[in-house]
Amino acid sequence: MAQAQRLICRSNEVEESAQGFRFKFERFAAELPAFVIRYQGKVYAYLNQCGHVPAELDWQPGHFFDDSKLYLICSIHGALYAPESGRCLGGRCQGVGLKAIKVIEIDGDILLDQ
Ligand code: FES
Repeated sequence: MAQAQRLICRSNEVEESAQGFRFKFERFAAELPAFVIRYQGKVYAYLNQCGHVPAELDWQPGHFFDDSKLYLICSIHGALYAPESGRCLGGRCQGVGLKAIKVIEIDGDILLDQ
């Protein structure tokens, strides 16, 4: 199913280095948990699935950043990821990064860009 430019949320629902927005990403007829965050002014989206085991990262819905606001953190065992790439930076992800989802921001909307 084509998802080209489907609306995820409004821009003001994703705060800089803070609250992200959870959504469902359709893939192979399945709906997978995903999220979008804002970091240094740009939006990034990933499947909500840790590289350690396929668990969701957020300890409270939409909370993906660690206390420093520089990294995404898995709430279960503390794996750290780069917000701008999803790359594993340390912890139990052991080199397995987050799976990125293409998104764009246009006129106050954040859209899937598939
Ligand atoms: S499940 Fe994320 S670090 Fe273990």
